[in-house]
Amino acid sequence: MSHPPRDGRRHAPAVERNKEAMLAVLAQVLPATGTVLEVASGTGQHAAFFTPRLAPRYWQPSDPDLGQHGSIAAWAAEAHTDRLLPAMALDVCTPVWPVETTMPPEPICAIVALNLIHIAPWAACQGLMAGAGRLLRGDGVLCLYGPFALDGAHTAPSNAAFDASLRQRDAAWGVRDLAEVTRAAAAAGLAPAGRFTMPANNLAVLFARQ
Ligand SMILES: C[S@@+](CC[C@H](N)C(=O)[O-])C[C@H]1O[C@@H](n2cnc3c(N)ncnc32)[C@H](O)[C@@H]1O
Repeated sequence: MSHPPRDGRRHAPAVERNKEAMLAVLAQVLPATGTVLEVASGTGQHAAFFTPRLAPRYWQPSDPDLGQHGSIAAWAAEAHTDRLLPAMALDVCTPVWPVETTMPPEPICAIVALNLIHIAPWAACQGLMAGAGRLLRGDGVLCLYGPFALDGAHTAPSNAAFDASLRQRDAAWGVRDLAEVTRAAAAAGLAPAGRFTMPANNLAVLFARQ
């Protein structure tokens, strides 16, 4: 949930709570150079926080919701870095992503999807995997962050309650089981490449080429 903009920057309080832990994971797992493609950038807070701290990598934010692009640009202006690229309109469900037709300054070394696949229909997870399968270079990684169920069970009562509230908002949404996500990844030629336990019963999950 983000609050209304004042100076153009929308504020999602959850980002303030998870950005440091997520930065620590990214600093550890990202290839040293290249362009990181962030799908579902939302407000742009993550992009503005990560980019100067992960230089010299470029960061390509994106979101299909054009209403977020002003906020992403406003946060980017505060980040004072030339590595943060203008936001793209990218819906992971589309068969060709804009980055496939407009070359980034350096090849895509990673795709980052924070809090996407449980707040979107299952097709978004499948589309994300398909895009990662098309785009990632040999040493590239796909990094997902959010709540996951493990072996058909929620990892905490709060995740079960969150899952129920998501499904009430939209029957196609919901906390995903990591085994099902892993099967969708395999269908796109990707295999598990790491898993980090994150604060507040979330996981950071990595996939790479098989
Ligand atoms: C809960 S927000 C997460 C934003 C940000 N990543 C974060 O962690 O705060 C979910 C975002 O997913 C985006 N989204 C929904 N469906 C999508 C799709 N099919 N492809 C790409 N992004 C999508 C929404 O526009 C929204 O900005």
